[in-house]
Amino acid sequence: MRITVIGTGYVGLVTGASLAYLGHQAVCVDVNEEKIKLLKSGVMPLWEPGLESMIRDVELQGRLDYSTDVSASVPVSDAVFLTLGTPSSESGEVDLSALWSVVRSIAPMLHRDTLLIIKSTVPAGTCEQIEAYLHQQFPASASIAVAHNPEFLRQGSAVRDFLAPDRLVFGASRPEAHHRLEEIYAAIQSPVIKCGLREAELIKCASNAFLAMKISYANMMSDLCDALGISVDAVAEGMGLDRRIGSEFLRAGAGYGGSCFPKDLRALIALAAKEHLDMELLKATEAINRQRVQVICRRLEGIFGSLEDKQITIYGLAFKPNTDDTREAPALRISSMLQEAGARIRAYDPVVAGLPDRQVDVDTDMYEAADGSDCVVIVTDWDQFNRLDWGRLRQVMRSPYIFDARNMLDIAVMTENCKRYGLHYMSLGRPSIAPDVPLTID
Ligand code: UGA
Repeated sequence: MRITVIGTGYVGLVTGASLAYLGHQAVCVDVNEEKIKLLKSGVMPLWEPGLESMIRDVELQGRLDYSTDVSASVPVSDAVFLTLGTPSSESGEVDLSALWSVVRSIAPMLHRDTLLIIKSTVPAGTCEQIEAYLHQQFPASASIAVAHNPEFLRQGSAVRDFLAPDRLVFGASRPEAHHRLEEIYAAIQSPVIKCGLREAELIKCASNAFLAMKISYANMMSDLCDALGISVDAVAEGMGLDRRIGSEFLRAGAGYGGSCFPKDLRALIALAAKEHLDMELLKATEAINRQRVQVICRRLEGIFGSLEDKQITIYGLAFKPNTDDTREAPALRISSMLQEAGARIRAYDPVVAGLPDRQVDVDTDMYEAADGSDCVVIVTDWDQFNRLDWGRLRQVMRSPYIFDARNMLDIAVMTENCKRYGLHYMSLGRPSIAPDVPLTID
């Protein structure tokens, strides 16, 4: 099939490349000329594992192209995917202006057999409005169908998530649209949910909100474990083995960030408010997530008293590993709060080279970043931090404190390292370890 994908962020690019990989003829379109120029010259505009090699393969086979011009590909496409960003507005509602602007501009180019597939995350009701708009504006092409096919792509594993999904969701108001989506995804083995447009829209936001809620639940339990002097690891493992609960997204730590969970929670709360419903559970989820920063800062103040003139090194700036995305990253909130408390901040991230508009020195070497530091705080669970040379780190640091705010390091391994190198290790909801007094609570 000939497919146009409009919007080349990580969702659009992964979608275009994966559809080409599945055998379709895909064109990725974006108004950003610089981005399209980069893609055409073989430079990746974003960092997503596995994407570049897949793109090279499909380019060689002549199945993926890039363009800034919708009018060249949309009129000859069997399906048009919209993968535009839908950020939060000030009020927490979703800003759909980019999506609508593209819908208006391509509407006259859609022919009667084209399927318009909205992949962007949108509030329930949006796709019905788009369908109604098309039929009003172009009564002659009343057969143009709109579908909603939400994405469940995690940054860092988006290619795998696209090609081997837990489920495919096909939302549409007509059977022929469901059928077209089945054809597009025929090569993918996965359960398929065929439902209405609004159901598909809600499946996406409700799934993200549920995952965020699981994380906040784990964080709430982690605070209780700290108070009781027991380990949240054992509690999460014991809960997660119950198949009704599941072990994923139960990892306590610095909280969730990124461009999806915070935004989708706000959007659901705003959508429900219009229906006079108060999403108390989601508001609590947000509040717990916001408080993670305070929990971390209070722990540091508990050690140092005042943070005035203390040097804190943040390890990890991206909102999670295997991405260079710092949107709503806990590291940003933590560094701001520590700075307000008087600390000097240095930072290291394997892929994020700098933070625009922030007074944070980002080093390219993790030991340099820790030079003269009173505490290293791990905020993103990059695998690289599992292979730190603890002896070398201790030598460059002024004080011996390691705060693992992602609970990523193994307690037994860190007990050994604390003994050997005189380190103090803390995490969240797990016993702290001092050099000669292993497994004690602060
Ligand atoms: C999320 C969803 O997982 C995807 O299914 C969805 O398609 C995507 O949003 C989207 O709406 O586009 P993503 O934001 O890339 O994907 O990241 P996740 O892997 O879900 O992690 C989100 C945040 O939760 C990260 O900050 C991560 O560190 C944190 N997290 C995750 C925890 O704090 N604990 C956990 O146990 C798991």
